[in-house]
Amino acid sequence: MLKRTDYLTKNYGKPDGFSLQTYESSGGYRSIRRVLSMPREAVIEEAKKAHVRGRGGAGFDCGTKWSFMPKPGSKPHYLVINADEGEPGTFKDRTLMEQNPHAVLEGCMIGMYAINAHACYIYVRDELHLAKSRLWGAIRELRAKGFLGDLPFGNNYPLQINVHTGAGAYICGEETSLLNSLEGRRGEPRLKPPFPAQAGAFGCPTTVNNVETVAIMPTVFQLGGDAFSKLSDLHAWNDGGVRLFGVSGHVKRPGIYECAVGLTLRELIYDLGGGIEGDRELLGVIPGGSSCPVHLPNEVVHVPNNPKFELFNGRSILDLPLGVDPFRTVGSMLGTCCAIVLSDAADPVLAMQNLMRFYKHESCGQCTPCREGCGWLERIFDKIVEGTASLEELDQVHEIASNITGNTICAFGDGAAQPALSFVRKYREQFEDYILNQGRSQTGRLTV
Ligand SMILES: Cc1cc2nc3c(=O)[nH]c(=O)nc-3n(C[C@H](O)[C@H](O)[C@H](O)COP(=O)(O)O)c2cc1C
Repeated sequence: MLKRTDYLTKNYGKPDGFSLQTYESSGGYRSIRRVLSMPREAVIEEAKKAHVRGRGGAGFDCGTKWSFMPKPGSKPHYLVINADEGEPGTFKDRTLMEQNPHAVLEGCMIGMYAINAHACYIYVRDELHLAKSRLWGAIRELRAKGFLGDLPFGNNYPLQINVHTGAGAYICGEETSLLNSLEGRRGEPRLKPPFPAQAGAFGCPTTVNNVETVAIMPTVFQLGGDAFSKLSDLHAWNDGGVRLFGVSGHVKRPGIYECAVGLTLRELIYDLGGGIEGDRELLGVIPGGSSCPVHLPNEVVHVPNNPKFELFNGRSILDLPLGVDPFRTVGSMLGTCCAIVLSDAADPVLAMQNLMRFYKHESCGQCTPCREGCGWLERIFDKIVEGTASLEELDQVHEIASNITGNTICAFGDGAAQPALSFVRKYREQFEDYILNQGRSQTGRLTV
């Protein structure tokens, strides 16, 4: 159900909305003061009650992730914030760092205390110049007031935060590639185990969190974990609170909207996004960044033999609450919760070609199924558009994409295969049309 909130976004767009003064006057830095006076275990328990599912795409519970960090030992612990945000269609973290950097930094401080770390690195994609300068500006404000340093808020718990510039590779958003890149190595995913909590940055216990995941933590500790969780329609499914929803593509009002968890795609596209550009029909929607499968507007949810989700049976996919588990259960993915909308003016064949060019370009090349598979898929889609592909080659898309899925070190391969599989299955007619009509000109149609 549509319930708009403004815990993170109330000062978006205001002159000086990103300053320390504005943040403190809206209650900022009260949560960290409280947290620093709590036993560490109580902080983790409170975070668990909030059921903040990771906002980076995998949807893992944040409090539980913090609890995986080992007891303090001989090695330092690190908090690393994933601000790479390379997923096509996703722009919520960039906006958050630009408009509300202090929420991100207060969240980092809470996270550091929870996992027994004194240092945090925020790994920001190089192109995000405004985000980086707002973060550095905010860090300088905190250092000047002594909120960051040896005695934050008078507590003998030193806290330091650094902004690290990435180099604009999508794969460096995958958490272990990010750690390699942070260490100055080639940005390639690591084999797991060991998991970052065991051996992460510089071989030390590390938690990697998304920007939004930590930025919502001051709100969690302001409201209390339980109360925060209950803001969500899906709190009974352990998917709590509020989050940032993005909508882009062919809608009248693309943007970022903060709402309680439980919003539906229909509400996101029509109520918040203002409906389809040019009052056209909806052709399809990718729910959360390009690595998720595309959905047709007439798809009906069918969840066989799962009493937990029975109430969703028979609903339109557009009316399924945007939660981690509901989307996983219907064989889709919530991803970053930033939907890409295609109107019927779009050409799904050109959209797929465009996406596969991206995945081929961004594959790090470490795993053969992904390196070769993305190249083969790109060539097939190029041939389809040129009008030189056969129907057999269209069928090969399924085989190639299925051979990538699950056969790579990281989830990039699955993220490349999912759109290919779903576009070809759901827009089969349009792909066949290109093949049978030798790439008939589709002049005037749009890509994504
Ligand atoms: C190819 C790829 C790219 C990713 N890019 C990002 C990203 O830009 N930002 C992000 O937070 N997570 C990204 N992730 C997910 C991270 O690996 C990781 O799950 C996340 O940072 C954990 O934070 P969270 O638990 O707070 O969501 C990506 C994953 C893959 C496989």
